[in-house]
Amino acid sequence: MKAIVFTKYGSPDVLELKEVVKPTPKDDEVLIRVHAASPNDWDWGALQGIPFVNRLIFGLLNPKKQILGSDIAGRIEAVGKNVLQFRPGDEVFGDLSGDWGGFAEYVCARENALALKAPSMTFEEAAAIPQAAMLALQGLRDLGRIKPGQKLLINGAGGGVGTFAIQIAKLYGVEVTGVDSPEKLDLLRSMGAEHVIDYTQEDFTKNGHCYDLILDVKTNRSIFDCARALSPNGIYVTVGGSMARLFQALVLGPWISMTKNKHIRILALKPNKGLAYMKELFEAGKVIPVIDRPYKLSEVPKAFRHFGEGRHKGKVVITLEHNNKT
Ligand SMILES: NC(=O)c1ccc[n+]([C@@H]2O[C@H](COP(=O)([O-])OP(=O)(O)OC[C@H]3O[C@@H](n4cnc5c(N)ncnc54)[C@H](OP(=O)(O)O)[C@@H]3O)[C@@H](O)[C@H]2O)c1
Repeated sequence: MKAIVFTKYGSPDVLELKEVVKPTPKDDEVLIRVHAASPNDWDWGALQGIPFVNRLIFGLLNPKKQILGSDIAGRIEAVGKNVLQFRPGDEVFGDLSGDWGGFAEYVCARENALALKAPSMTFEEAAAIPQAAMLALQGLRDLGRIKPGQKLLINGAGGGVGTFAIQIAKLYGVEVTGVDSPEKLDLLRSMGAEHVIDYTQEDFTKNGHCYDLILDVKTNRSIFDCARALSPNGIYVTVGGSMARLFQALVLGPWISMTKNKHIRILALKPNKGLAYMKELFEAGKVIPVIDRPYKLSEVPKAFRHFGEGRHKGKVVITLEHNNKT
């Protein structure tokens, strides 16, 4: 089968389209013919071996897991003998982070990493959902305890997580402020953000406005500045971003929470927790993935470059065409 392989850490130039052995599912796995996949920030970090934790996961000097790609959608081709939930022919999607292997014509996955795709979803839409939508949902609902009538600010609102977060937040009847680069502000407005901030012109922590909830996808400001932008009893949730700022939030967050009546929370993603709910929202027409543009499997290096430059709106998606011989 064809796959995008990396044998050393580096820029998207180290990604190569190669012929590799088609995987065989273990007893508790299914074999999926991948129809679409989507890169995430984690793939981007793993490609470069940065931060160092990625080298602990992928290999110290060179990557041992050589096929990236965690968000996938496809059709089940074979099932291991202990698999209970799925049958060949089922259309599924999910986040395979921990195992990866999605930028390939076929991948094996444990059944608990998958959900049935809604018939009305395209494979591209399904592949766009798992990691970004779960970060948005778990950040807003589980850690942020989002409530109707609140004022919410999303920092980095025009990317994968942010575009899901705006749509989920609107279901709760909150007033949304989206922060991103000027090219993405019209998109944020069109998705229902009442207010937008161009981060190249304005620092949301210094404009005098306060928010009941902040969802931070970039975590590029001091935790004290973010706390200042919170209303009394407000909650700040970071889903990721600058390692130095995350460390600051980890160390000083509990102290701020104790002394300032403001709450600092760091999200640790629970992969696929909430995937079935997101499928329901999609089927009800309430949440629709924003897809920047699809790329072919052979164009994964190009897709990564585009993703790394940060110019994408919503999710970058890889689409795979199969002929009957593959
Ligand atoms: N917590 C966990 O367990 C976990 C697991 C996986 C991933 N993550 C994290 O999840 C996040 C993934 O987010 P994503 O997929 O939405 O990323 P994304 O698609 O790259 O979106 C990020 C957005 O932020 C914007 N941006 C860049 N600089 C900014 C700034 N200074 N201020 C405000 N916005 C800015 C970008 O736009 P421009 O580039 O045009 O400016 C882009 O629209 C990452 O932080 C990752 O580390 C966390």
